[in-house]
Amino acid sequence: MYLNKKKAKKIHELKKEKNAIILAHFYMIPEIQDLADYIGDSLELAKISQKNDADIIVFCGVHFMAETAKILSPEKKVLLPDLEAGCSLADSCPPGDFKKFKEKYPDHKVISYINCSAEIKALSDIICTSSNAVDIVNSFDKDQKLIFAPDKNLGGYINNITGRDMILWDGTCEVHDLLTVETILKLKNKYKDAPVIAHPECKAQILAMADFVGSTSKLLKYTQESEKNMFIVATETGIIHQMKKYSPHKEFIIVPSDENCMCNDCPYMKEITSDKVLKSLEEEKYNIELDDELIKKAYMPVKKMLDLSK
Ligand code: 13P
Ligand code: SF4
Repeated sequence: MYLNKKKAKKIHELKKEKNAIILAHFYMIPEIQDLADYIGDSLELAKISQKNDADIIVFCGVHFMAETAKILSPEKKVLLPDLEAGCSLADSCPPGDFKKFKEKYPDHKVISYINCSAEIKALSDIICTSSNAVDIVNSFDKDQKLIFAPDKNLGGYINNITGRDMILWDGTCEVHDLLTVETILKLKNKYKDAPVIAHPECKAQILAMADFVGSTSKLLKYTQESEKNMFIVATETGIIHQMKKYSPHKEFIIVPSDENCMCNDCPYMKEITSDKVLKSLEEEKYNIELDDELIKKAYMPVKKMLDLSK
């Protein structure tokens, strides 16, 4: 679905009037990607949230992303167009349970993937995203014992790459965790010359067989720079819009989570529509509000990550 011109004009006028910007993740539906001022992966969006002159950020992504923007820019109004835009991975790590888990390992430092709540961030020593996780883990002394939360797939992948033995919280993304090796093998058999590129939230067996693993931005860059003309893409469907934009002559085969459906659309990301963005700007909702003390505690580990990711 592409954006209606009248609606786009109204959104543009409201943005100007209220000094607002729209940030969008690559998993948004195409019409949202096309109206955004900035589009990026989690790390890029966190950086932009911190450095911009707007009074209002309309975050077209999921709740933990909007919360991160608020943590980084507490003086700004951060709006999420639909509060149903959550994240199964963030939800797989309830703060009370995680606090007890952490207490079992008092000599461990905690690295949390950015896909977690502000409360989990506040319980962490440092945050990482899928694009900087290896560097963040390697920033710790080899002997330092580590906990990685909440994604066990990303954590296991980083353990393999770095040779660490991080304790993993047992969380997954319901979208990536549905993708199977069998489906990819079938696609590989059909499209023999196409490399498999995968997001690190996929299962270990998929990551082991992939030709390239990376964050959404890195996957996009890979398809732009590769000499190949066809790619088997193991992640959420939204990224294909940008891949096609940057490389219109190339072909992208999205890995279905099931042969009969395309259910690897993230239901939370897909909650955000242009009607909701317009309403969000008109009514200034839904305003992300966090307790000052929580912001202070969650800011330190996010800042540490940003300092290491310049
Ligand atoms: P990226 O940081 O790679 O954009 O990933 C965000 C996400 O939610 C993946 O499911
Ligand atoms: Fe969360 Fe998975 Fe959706 Fe990303 S794709 S926002 S990890 S549920």
